[in-house]
Amino acid sequence: MTSLDYSLQQEVAVIAFASPPVNSLGHGLRSALVEALERAKRDDKVAAVVLIGANATFCAGADIKEFGTSAMSRGPGLPTLNATIESLGKPVVAAIEGVALGGGLELAMSCHHRVAQSGARLGLPEVKLGLLPGAGGTQRLPRLIGIENALNIMLSGEPLPAKMFQGSPLLDAVVDHDLLDTAIAVAKQSAAAHQAGSRLPRARDLKIRELDLQALCQFARNTVKTAFKPYPAPAAIVDAVEYGAQHGFAAGLEEENRLFRGLLVDPVSASLRHIFFADRAAARIKDLSPDIKPSAFEKVAIIGAGTMGTGIAINFLTAGIETRLLEVNQEALDRGVERIQKYFEGRVKKGKLTADKAQGMAKNLVPVLDYAQISDVDLVIEAVFEDMAIKKSVFSQLDSVMREGAILATNTSTLDIDEIAATTKRAEDVIGLHFFSPANVMKLLEVVRGKKTSLQVLATAMALAKKIRKTAVVSGVCDGFIGNRMINQYSAQALAMLEEGASPQQIDAAIEKFGFAMGPFRMSDLAGNDIGWHIRKRQLAEGKLTRTSLIADRLCELGRFGQKTGAGWYDYRLGDRHAHVSEVVEKLIAEQRTASGVSTRSLDDAEIVDRLVFSLVNEGAKILQEGIAQRASDIDLVYLTGYGFPIWRGGPMHYAESRSLYEVARRMREFATLPSADEAFWQPADLLQQCIAAGHGFDGGAA
Ligand code: CAA
Repeated sequence: MTSLDYSLQQEVAVIAFASPPVNSLGHGLRSALVEALERAKRDDKVAAVVLIGANATFCAGADIKEFGTSAMSRGPGLPTLNATIESLGKPVVAAIEGVALGGGLELAMSCHHRVAQSGARLGLPEVKLGLLPGAGGTQRLPRLIGIENALNIMLSGEPLPAKMFQGSPLLDAVVDHDLLDTAIAVAKQSAAAHQAGSRLPRARDLKIRELDLQALCQFARNTVKTAFKPYPAPAAIVDAVEYGAQHGFAAGLEEENRLFRGLLVDPVSASLRHIFFADRAAARIKDLSPDIKPSAFEKVAIIGAGTMGTGIAINFLTAGIETRLLEVNQEALDRGVERIQKYFEGRVKKGKLTADKAQGMAKNLVPVLDYAQISDVDLVIEAVFEDMAIKKSVFSQLDSVMREGAILATNTSTLDIDEIAATTKRAEDVIGLHFFSPANVMKLLEVVRGKKTSLQVLATAMALAKKIRKTAVVSGVCDGFIGNRMINQYSAQALAMLEEGASPQQIDAAIEKFGFAMGPFRMSDLAGNDIGWHIRKRQLAEGKLTRTSLIADRLCELGRFGQKTGAGWYDYRLGDRHAHVSEVVEKLIAEQRTASGVSTRSLDDAEIVDRLVFSLVNEGAKILQEGIAQRASDIDLVYLTGYGFPIWRGGPMHYAESRSLYEVARRMREFATLPSADEAFWQPADLLQQCIAAGHGFDGGAA
């Protein structure tokens, strides 16, 4: 709810504005600010104005929720608000606390003076939303702090501490306290100087001093072209800055506005804005009341010192949490401890950590061999071999030793958590924490709630994920949860296309060109082809799979498990991770195609990409309709942070909406008619059809 408080402190009008939680500049606030500024202009008793944000923050910029809606174009726009300030004829001072970001900093730069609290952070993060600063930022910031500094800030999008700008024309003063009093003092001083004939200082009047403008901008342009290939905003930022420096402030503003409007309708910005909100939405659990507070956690234990267990342990150690690592034999435990030590040594060598910090973190590692030594921890995560019998045995031991109220988590990537929980007398304390490999690198954490998992345990797991800086997405129980259940369909499609005539390298290349970090075959070689083989065998035995891939099974029978065995879908050479086309695999594929009697055909890249991506989308829709995922944007987040889906495409569900759900279903029906197609596979999910009929997207928005 927008509100504005206008008060007179001697001859200074103090305009305190609020638009919780971050004072974003939606239409209501823009209108209220223009009105208050005009009131101050008219009032003869007012000599100067101070703008200050409520909620201990200045302003986080334009209201991103308005983008793409009619509210955004409703006057007054931000440029009008900024022009009103600049031409008020009385000094306006921005008093900055908390953050001044994007349009918030642009508003401040339109003021005649700026005073900041020392803890404040300033930045132009629009590039992270696929945009450029569209309210004068590309023109005013270079004039205030120089082109190179301004470009660095706009291209990184990172907020910087106010103290860094002390002494530059960007900030008149940086104070530890008394922000408002200082701002009022600056306002009075400026009013006196103005009344004595001085011109009001305006960023737009400052001269740009850059001896080699063209060379600097060309260098920046070349750099962003390589570093941010699919993203149009960075190059547009450089263009806007250069244009304004060459043609003057007013022309620069016009060019900035033109470029901003172009970026706003670009699908890349739509994707990045979608991700901004998806990221925040994922933390909200529909049935979890804010009254349920997470329990404290100080000590954790990890069972299993293999690659996964040690990777998980590193997360907690890095967060400064005491971590006990349990193994069944000394040798395996020693290997795990060594792996962790090597990791921290590597961080120090790379200059990412100081030796002191690394030592402090590693010091929290407590290697143990006995379950009795972990009984008092707050959370235990099992990371043993993916086999139900083994997991059950671990959980029954945990049930007998762990203190009351401890959280018992499994890192299973596919198995039924309710079945695991049933081996204990405390199913309410059991939860899935599915880390992705390498667990200390990958952002994603699937938090899997069992049927009986308590809300308290769920709330604590979410808090814990935040503490170890993971992107947590809640999933219900099903085979593979959100991520792996979908990837199984994707892999099945990749294998089907192999049988139909495409080669592993053609499939990989097509989806990598689409933007995936790695195609399905290179990915499988990296993760280990035996993992999928193991899952297929289990699913066949459980009747969850009716058909297996003979080519993939045959590959594993030959021991071609991937990079770890030097051979998989591709050949690998010692010390070289490059995937080389394999004659053995080509022969194997040809033999299997002949054996199965399939007549092959050539597949184009568009078919390959659509079959892979839409297999994800259809399964995602089923996951959503079954309530396994809370929202489609959660599914997108899983794929963006755990499976290398191209960020600029916004995730599979968002991508499907951007292609139009109708078109997605039409393509699926087309695939169902292909020779040797699995018709049932391509039957559009009920939810997909319902969304098309209702004319909205998966989460109720535009389709
Ligand atoms: N518009 C609308 N809502 C915003 C917002 C914005 N600019 N910035 C934050 N919010 C919302 C978030 O969506 C979130 O809402 P919910 O509680 O409903 O999920 C809430 O404010 C709190 O945000 P966070 O959870 O991110 O809180 P935080 O304390 O971790 O971070 C922040 C606060 C640093 C301001 C962070 O939210 C942030 O970086 N916001 C984005 C700032 C930004 O990108 N500004 C540029 C906008 S574009 C622009 O200004 C264009 C232009 O040039 C004209």
